[in-house]
Formats: sequence, structure tokens, C-alpha cells
Amino acid sequence: MQPAEKTPKQIVTALDEYVIGQHEAKRAIAVALRNRYRRMQLAQDMQDEITPKNMLMIGPTGVGKTEIARRLAKIVVAPFVKVEATKFTEVGYVGRDVESMVRDLVDVAIEMERKVQYKNVRAEASRQADKRLVKLLVPGVKKQPTQQNQMQGLMSAFTAMQNGQNPLQNTEEKEEVTDTVRDQRLSVKEQLDRGLLENEEVTIEMADPKQAVAMNNNNMMGQMGIDLSETLGALTPKRKISRTVTVKEAREVFIKEESEKLVNEADIYHASIKRAENTGIIFIDEIDKITANGQQNSGEVSREGVQRDILPIVEGSAITTKYGTINTDHILFIASGAFADSKPSDLIAELQGRFPIRVELDDLSKEDFVRILTEPNNALIKQYMAMIATDNIHTTFTKEAIERIAEIAYNVNHETENIGARRLHTILEKLLEDILYEGPDMEMGDITITEKYVNDKIGDIVADKDLSRYIL
Ligand SMILES: Nc1ncnc2c1ncn2[C@@H]1O[C@H](COP(=O)(O)OP(=O)(O)OP(=O)(O)O)[C@@H](O)[C@H]1O
Ligand SMILES: [Mg+2]
Repeated sequence: MQPAEKTPKQIVTALDEYVIGQHEAKRAIAVALRNRYRRMQLAQDMQDEITPKNMLMIGPTGVGKTEIARRLAKIVVAPFVKVEATKFTEVGYVGRDVESMVRDLVDVAIEMERKVQYKNVRAEASRQADKRLVKLLVPGVKKQPTQQNQMQGLMSAFTAMQNGQNPLQNTEEKEEVTDTVRDQRLSVKEQLDRGLLENEEVTIEMADPKQAVAMNNNNMMGQMGIDLSETLGALTPKRKISRTVTVKEAREVFIKEESEKLVNEADIYHASIKRAENTGIIFIDEIDKITANGQQNSGEVSREGVQRDILPIVEGSAITTKYGTINTDHILFIASGAFADSKPSDLIAELQGRFPIRVELDDLSKEDFVRILTEPNNALIKQYMAMIATDNIHTTFTKEAIERIAEIAYNVNHETENIGARRLHTILEKLLEDILYEGPDMEMGDITITEKYVNDKIGDIVADKDLSRYIL
């Protein structure tokens, strides 16, 4: 089944692998995603009428809002970007910079589309690449330039230069393929096919990666929808560098070059814009930090101003990018914030109205902490065990120890400041500091973290409220 067609239940199950609890939020997101897929199945005129129901996730700090968004991006095959709303209030930002979130989305879509299209031509591209590899491994015999030929060569070099080509590059045609060469190539081809030459070294010419980076760096211009690299790229010749690589690596370089020839850039741009328009998701984090109340630093862009700048994008507008104009009508927006010092109703009314689905995330319980520590694929305890194992120390945590850690986290959260699951990070760091410090120098072998170890190591700190405020 195509990942894009995941049912709501499947999406929730996939999220469950990383985020504990928060079932309501997962459910709402899964439904919103499925609705976009449903919409795409309808007739065009109906599609145009159905606008996505944007969502606002509200919940205390450290309970998984951002985590859900991060994981979602990996699960759904849709262009996805995450921005911090506060970024737009920073000194130096101007209103139209808000549009950069849509441009970033298009960039992501292009990346995805390119992958898809390259994959479609991969078979053909690798055939061409193998042909080039064979020629590289068994070069033709260089023709001795005769008097006549030299003159011709000069002339053709001259014409090549007039046509804007590098006259030194087309040496290939001046090679002669003798019968011996042909036989050798056949046998090399066969060896290549059988994968016998993968680690042979060859020297190839490839585009200078440094140049590519410099070309892509024209951020300012990109903001205005101008692609400078294309104009400049046409003027500056592509710089090539020589590199010695294995056949295996050379093939990848050639496949990429051949793929570039086989796909149509304009098609990619067009398809990407459509993809971003119809399936794109923009996650706006920290939206509570751009409500009007609360202190504002001088020089900061007005928060309400930022809301007003975001509004047209969420409402649906046309935005120019260097790949074409994109309409934001059907992009799904998910906003999220802790709303500790403010309420959703502090947002300007128009913006509130654009986020009709509200989901609240729950505070995490002691049981949730136990599960967060152990269950997710990247669970904290698993991470620490793997890190410590690099020093040849094998650690195990007893069930009681884990429960005690969760209990401490819960208590400290409620006695001092509630920072949600982030508390687990600080506690584990403190708990394991000796092992992390001394481990590499001592032959510790196996270590079992028991409840007693936890109490000995951090029990005193927990008992002292002032101390735990600073240390845990
Ligand atoms: N429900 C959860 N399941 C698994 N891990 C969680 C959960 N909640 C939080 N975490 C972990 O805690 C850390 C902080 O979570 P996250 O960044 O999602 O917080 P947040 O809700 O976005 O908070 P804030 O409002 O401060 O931005 C992350 O490392 C995350 O892995
Ligand atoms: Mg967050």
C-alpha cells in the first residue's frame, strides 16, 4: 500500500511507535490527513470547494507536541515543513519573509518529486552509466592526428568555442574503437554485470560540489522568487574536478548525470507545485508566543503584525516562488503552542477562525514516563544503553529503578516547574554521570541500575526542593 493512503488507524499506530499517549491529538491529525486523501478522490469542482480544517494543538510544555509533528513528517509521504512562529518576530524580519515557509515547502516538494522521477528513469540511467563505465575502463585507441586532422581539429575546436562549448572536452570522438578494444569492452561489460569490478578505481570528471553550493546560496533572491543561479549558471561554465573513485561510486555519479538528462526540469517544477498545493503540510510551532499580550522586546516585529502576515497564507493566497506560483488554499496548517501565559482567544479573531479543530494534549503521568523511558523505538534508556555500550559496558535497568526514575520526574515536575518529559533527560543525565565519566577508563563490565542506585545517586537532591530546582 502506498504510504500516502494510510488509514487514520495506521497513522496513529505509526505515531505510537514514538509518542506515548496523546491519543486524541494523534487521532485528530490522522483524520485531517485522511481527509486530504479523500478530497483528492473527488471530482475537481468538489475538490476546489473543500478547504482543509486546520488544527491547533494546545498543551503544556514537553508533552510531545513538537515530537508528534516531527514523527508525522516521516510517516506521511507529503511535503512537510516546520517553522517557529517566533522566528518572524526577530529583529530584521519583514512581513513578506513569512512567505518563506511556503517557499520552503515547495523546496521540499521538489526534492521529493525529483526522487520519484529519478527513480522512474533509474533503469535507463544505469544502462547509460554502465556504458560510460565500460568506455572508461577500456578506453579507445587515441588517433594520431595527421597534418590534415590537426587543421580540422583546430577548426572544429574553434567552432566548438563559438558554440560556447569547451573544445578540450570532446576528446571521446577522437578515439578509435579497434576490434581488440571491442572485445575487451564486451568482457568488461560482462564482469561489470556480474559485479566483479565494483571496487576497481577509476578517475572521473565530475561537477565541482563547491560550485553547486555557492550557486544555491542566493537566499535573498530566492525570497523574491528570482533564481539567480540559472542566470549565472548560464554564464559561468560548469567547473569540473577530477576524482579517483571506485566503480561503484562512479556509477552513482554517472546515474545522477544521466538521470538529469532523462527528466524534464520544468515537469518536476510543475508536479512539485501541485504536490505542495494539494498535500503540503505546514507546522507552525510556538504560535502562542506571537499573541499580543506579554512583554515584547524593542526592535522586535509586532507580534500582531506577524499574525496579520501569516493570515493571508493560511486563508489561501498565491505566492511566487522561483519554480512558479503556488496557491496555499489547500495546504494543511497545524499550529501548536503551550498557551501557558496566553489563550487561543488572544490570537487575532481572523486567525483563530482559521484553526477550527482544537486538540488538547494531556499532562504526562508517572505511568506515561515509564513508557516514554522504555517503549518508543528511540526510547531514552535505549539511547543511553547504546551510548554506554560503546565503552564495552553493558547496562541493565531493573523495573523498579525505571519506576523510581519516573516517579522522581513526576514529583520534581509538580514540586518545581513542570517541563514534561524533558525532565527525564535531566534526571538520566545526572543519574548516569559517573558511568559516563569514568566508564571508558575502568573495566566495569556489566552494570545493573537498581532502585537503590537511583536513590543513592539522586535521592538527596530530590529531597531538597531548592537543590532539585537547579540540578534536575
Ligand atoms: N508523549 C511523549 N512520548 C514520547 N516522548 C515524549 C512525549 N512527550 C515528550 N516527549 C519527549 O520530550 C521531549 C520534549 O517534547 P516536545 O518537544 O514534543 O515538547 P513540546 O510539547 O513541543 O513542548 P513545548 O511546548 O515546550 O515546545 C522530546 O525529546 C520528546 O521526545
Ligand atoms: Mg515544541
